[in-house]
Amino acid sequence: MAWFRSLNTPISDWQGRRVWIVGASSGIGAALAADLDARGARLALSARSAGRLRDVAEGMRDVMVLPLDVTDAGAFTPAMMQILDAWGGLDLVILNAGTYTPLRAWDLTTDTARQTVHTNLLGVMDGVAAVVPQMLRQQCGAIAIVGSVAGYRGLPKALAYGPSKAALINFAETLYLDLAPQGVSVFIINPGFVATPLTAQNDFDMPALISAEDAARRIVRGFAGGAFEIHFPQRFTRVMKLLRWLPDRLYFSLVSRGTRP
Ligand SMILES: NC(=O)c1ccc[n+]([C@@H]2O[C@H](COP(=O)([O-])OP(=O)(O)OC[C@H]3O[C@@H](n4cnc5c(N)ncnc54)[C@H](OP(=O)(O)O)[C@@H]3O)[C@@H](O)[C@H]2O)c1
Repeated sequence: MAWFRSLNTPISDWQGRRVWIVGASSGIGAALAADLDARGARLALSARSAGRLRDVAEGMRDVMVLPLDVTDAGAFTPAMMQILDAWGGLDLVILNAGTYTPLRAWDLTTDTARQTVHTNLLGVMDGVAAVVPQMLRQQCGAIAIVGSVAGYRGLPKALAYGPSKAALINFAETLYLDLAPQGVSVFIINPGFVATPLTAQNDFDMPALISAEDAARRIVRGFAGGAFEIHFPQRFTRVMKLLRWLPDRLYFSLVSRGTRP
């Protein structure tokens, strides 16, 4: 029955699968690249730092390094053309590039806000715009967007990051409505805390912190499940989901008390 079918086509056989990871030079993206390489995927790796991408690609079987800056709207199309020249198609793009600057209301500068939204939101939209025509031609394939549980509700210090991730969740839902009927899967990946360069700047004990390698394994397991949302670690993300349903007064009070230094 359609009600019980997974929302996306599950991905479990990675042998020869053509995967483009944007934001692959460190953290979760680099760990995903290593995991998928070990499972036999063909990889295209993008981020700004060509040197770090080459380090990640070192020793991999079938890999292309395609440096790009996601804030350069014109950068995606040439990279996509290189991918199509080499592979003739694309099975999965993982839009994982992201940036985080802790911001309180009194630190807010429009420069930081713009840079965050440009990288985290517009950078994903430009990536999606570059791959959708090919996915529609193929009538199959998958787009995975890395959001965050910080997009569920407002959290301290996430003044620009949180809204960018909340917008991504909405964007992925809207994209799903259009693309799923065309045979194209859309996944939103919402991690909790993962130990990476991005979170190394946090000055508090991160609850339920996991390694990037563990995050990569959970993402791969999520693709095999075929659900729209992949969120982890669930001991943490389930609590965050529950908090979404609290009345504002209770939510603000709990979060203020729970995050007080
Ligand atoms: N770590 C966590 O706890 C956590 C939790 C929830 C969600 N996330 C999300 O997970 C994703 C990966 O983050 P991470 O924790 O693995 O951090 P990370 O190690 O800092 O990785 C960020 C990646 O994005 C790339 N990137 C940043 N700005 C870019 C730009 N303008 N153009 C191209 N690439 C760019 C970086 O490469 P270059 O610097 O070489 O460009 C790097 O490869 C992000 O979207 C983040 O928001 C992380």
